[in-house]
Amino acid sequence: MQVAVLGAGLMGHALALVHALGGCRVRLTDTHAPTLARAPSLMSAALATLREAGETPHDDAWLARTITTHADLGETLEGAELVVEAITEDPDAKRALFAAVDGLAPADAIIASNTSYLDPFPLIPEARQHRAAIAHWYTPPYLVDLVDIVAGPSCDPTIPLALRDLYAGMGKRPIVMRKFVPGFIANRIQAVVSMELYALLDDGVADAAEIDAAVIHGLSLRMPLLGHMMKADFTGLTLTQKALATAMVPPPPQRKASTTIDALIAEGATGVASGRGFYDYGGRTPADLFAERDRKLLALKRALRDIGSMVP
Ligand SMILES: NC(=O)c1ccc[n+]([C@@H]2O[C@H](COP(=O)([O-])OP(=O)(O)OC[C@H]3O[C@@H](n4cnc5c(N)ncnc54)[C@H](O)[C@@H]3O)[C@@H](O)[C@H]2O)c1
Repeated sequence: MQVAVLGAGLMGHALALVHALGGCRVRLTDTHAPTLARAPSLMSAALATLREAGETPHDDAWLARTITTHADLGETLEGAELVVEAITEDPDAKRALFAAVDGLAPADAIIASNTSYLDPFPLIPEARQHRAAIAHWYTPPYLVDLVDIVAGPSCDPTIPLALRDLYAGMGKRPIVMRKFVPGFIANRIQAVVSMELYALLDDGVADAAEIDAAVIHGLSLRMPLLGHMMKADFTGLTLTQKALATAMVPPPPQRKASTTIDALIAEGATGVASGRGFYDYGGRTPADLFAERDRKLLALKRALRDIGSMVP
């Protein structure tokens, strides 16, 4: 399959790699020349992590043959059967790009937007609506398997299924949602969890490391096996029903900010990229930290593959 990936930023370059690893030929573009120029080295670094872990035999020569970069949008879209939109989360930018795609892409190309919160469908020209969908990925998409697929309001119903089959065939775990909601499922859960955890932190209930211990050793351990719904079945739905009725925990406060995060940012501690956030990374480079995260995520995925989830 010929794929055009539009946007080569954090998500775009990684999505180009994912589609190439899945057997597609990929053309990648970005309007910001330095971002496009940097994409091959970022893809090469991610590919090296996968190769060293034995997940792929492919090397840089394969990468250069399979993914080409193009400054010109028309050239990027030549022969595209699938257009993956991964540009800035800005409605005007996306609207202008979709209008340009309408004039340049093959008539039967599928358009798949990687939008996070914006509803892209009102931004897509009428002529393209019947083949327009969302395929929303998580970072890094070469390691996180979930893909949220949502059909546009007048989309041909075969399109989300075709995307589901394409990505399932690449070893991903696509889910087909019945309608668009900003943040999809996983990010909405994460948003609610974040509100509660930052409130606990700001209120001095526990420090960041203790909160993480509760997340890792309590909340998360059962999730890869049972998800949330099956965990409720194991708890028993009568207890779940009672817990809901007693509102044991009130809904998280809608503070829309965290005093702890505001204070860290004011000190320049913005997370891994600055060497310090909730944790101090002891002078380690972001590249080193991301590589360790990727190696460990791969090892965890392997273990989970061997163990198998109980959820079908
Ligand atoms: N960052 C994430 O974790 C994440 C996860 C899922 C989805 N998304 C979504 O993916 C999209 C891209 O996010 P990102 O994090 O990669 O952003 P980013 O800022 O890293 O990259 C966006 C890129 O789009 C380029 N661009 C802007 N207008 C363009 C145009 N008309 N044509 C070609 N390129 C153009 C920019 O130059 C930039 O390099 C957004 O819609 C975002 O919401 C992001």
